[in-house]
Amino acid sequence: MGIRGNIMVWVFFFMAGLWWRAGEGLGVNWGTQATHQLPPKTVVQMLRDNGFEKVKLFDAAASTMSALAGSGIEVMVAIPNDQLETMNDYDSAKKWVKRSVTRYLFNGGVDVKYVAVGNEPFLSSYNGSFLNTTLPALQNIQNALNEAGVGDKIKATVPLNADVYYASAVTPSSGRFRADIADLMTNIVEFLAKNSAPFTVNIYPFLSLYSDKSFPFDFAFFDGNAAPVVDGNIQYTNVFDANFDTLVSALAAVGHSAMPIIVGEVGWPTEGDINARAAYAQRFYGGLLRRIAAKVGTPLRPNGGDLEIYLFGLIDEDAKSIAPGNFERHWGIFRYDGQPKFAMDLSGQGGQSFLVPAKGVEYLPARWCVFNPATEDLSKLGESITYACTFSDCTALGYGSSCNGLDERGNASYAFNMFFQVQNQADESCYFGGLAMVTTQNASTGTCNFTVQIASAAVQATAASSVVALLSGVSVMLLLLFVL
Ligand SMILES: *[C@@H]1O[C@H](CO)[C@@H](O)[C@H](O)[C@H]1NC(C)=O
Ligand SMILES: *[C@@H]1O[C@H](CO)[C@@H](O)[C@H](O)[C@H]1NC(C)=O
Ligand SMILES: *[C@@H]1O[C@H](CO)[C@@H](O)[C@H](O)[C@H]1NC(C)=O
Ligand SMILES: *[C@@H]1O[C@H](CO)[C@@H](O)[C@H](O)[C@H]1NC(C)=O
Ligand SMILES: *[C@@H]1O[C@H](CO)[C@@H](O)[C@H](O)[C@H]1NC(C)=O
Repeated sequence: MGIRGNIMVWVFFFMAGLWWRAGEGLGVNWGTQATHQLPPKTVVQMLRDNGFEKVKLFDAAASTMSALAGSGIEVMVAIPNDQLETMNDYDSAKKWVKRSVTRYLFNGGVDVKYVAVGNEPFLSSYNGSFLNTTLPALQNIQNALNEAGVGDKIKATVPLNADVYYASAVTPSSGRFRADIADLMTNIVEFLAKNSAPFTVNIYPFLSLYSDKSFPFDFAFFDGNAAPVVDGNIQYTNVFDANFDTLVSALAAVGHSAMPIIVGEVGWPTEGDINARAAYAQRFYGGLLRRIAAKVGTPLRPNGGDLEIYLFGLIDEDAKSIAPGNFERHWGIFRYDGQPKFAMDLSGQGGQSFLVPAKGVEYLPARWCVFNPATEDLSKLGESITYACTFSDCTALGYGSSCNGLDERGNASYAFNMFFQVQNQADESCYFGGLAMVTTQNASTGTCNFTVQIASAAVQATAASSVVALLSGVSVMLLLLFVL
């Protein structure tokens, strides 16, 4: 062995050390608006296998929280917007904190670090629905955490979309909170500061590109050659930095230039728009992760090591609203079944390997529902496709997506199959007045994957509850027999 061997060992530990440091603190959003969900334990294993150390949730589902217990993963648990009003009542807030936070704080329980109060509640598209209820909910939740004696370790924060400040800014240094909510934002920032809680913002370079056709493409990435945006002495080379520093300026303008900022969501979708592609997602994340590993900050917050970032998101969600766009169901770095979509090196070293997939995933049988070529009456075809797509996800058929360009029969097959899979391949869901038929031949074509759904926990739960229903039906019959 000698010196050479020792050096090899030393190099090995040095590399391993680098890897761990680079992956340290990286978070990811775990949304669950999917018709078929991987079992929470499977997801938690996947998080651990890939070295994620933090996870941000959108609710406080007991099944999710229980699966996270003992995992060592830091958790941002959440209150959905539709519960904000309820949290305006202090007793309700105290109950929520007990049920969703303190109950999990046993040894080997859940490492709760934050409570997300609402999710982008001030989006302009919500027409002010949550303007009155968000701050009181934030106050009640933090006060309840404080009263429970955990407020020094667990902070309430409100994940906000960059539209609370971004639209009005010409340059990052001119960043101010949106005029219609300026007072409210000031009060929220004051409350966060008083409790040493961070500001949480979601930043989406993809949406900058999507919403503005003249947006310089390369400026959305971190390795681009777009003409920089000049702001005084600073040259911004990417929209993430410009966006983030606009917030730093807005915070400075209300007297809190040093408030910690968490990036609650950042990511790139892979389907549903001409710019939503795996190759672009790979490029975006590649640049982002390289920066995180190198602890590169923004011009106004150069110490990137302080920045806490949650990727958006973990798994595709086929039941999300597509009001924002068809891409909304395709933000996952993993597909619906926990398979990685593209090469991604979380250590930020630019490696070309794929993430570790979900283990032990169970699929429904290899069966598809397709257009039945023997059908003669096609008068209901359009209507049937519309119906199928209303209750399943057909966003891959749209312009710029992987199944765009199929003919009408191809569209019908795709739609029928998505419906069939959502219905757990129930035979009666593949009929459509004779237009559809079940096949065991893989119907995928070219770039267009015809899905076979997973046998999800939700399905298993339904099966279990129908057994319960069946049993109670039996007991009702026995009871009737007995009475008669
Ligand atoms: C907001 O207002 C617009 C236009 O009046 C309406 O179409 C939309 O449904 C409203 N959204 C919500 C969340 O109330
Ligand atoms: C919020 O409060 C204001 C003032 O009390 C009221 O005019 C407005 O209708 C409220 N908004 C909602 C969505 O409840
Ligand atoms: C297939 O469906 C897509 C998405 O709805 C649509 O844009 C396209 O025109 C359809 N193709 C045919 C041939 O009907
Ligand atoms: C069907 O074919 C596609 C494309 O070749 C493939 O990716 C997929 O794994 C196949 N599905 C099954 C269930 O065999
Ligand atoms: C289709 O599935 C295969 C793996 O089975 C995957 O490699 C490919 O990226 C998928 N294509 C799309 C557009 O999802």
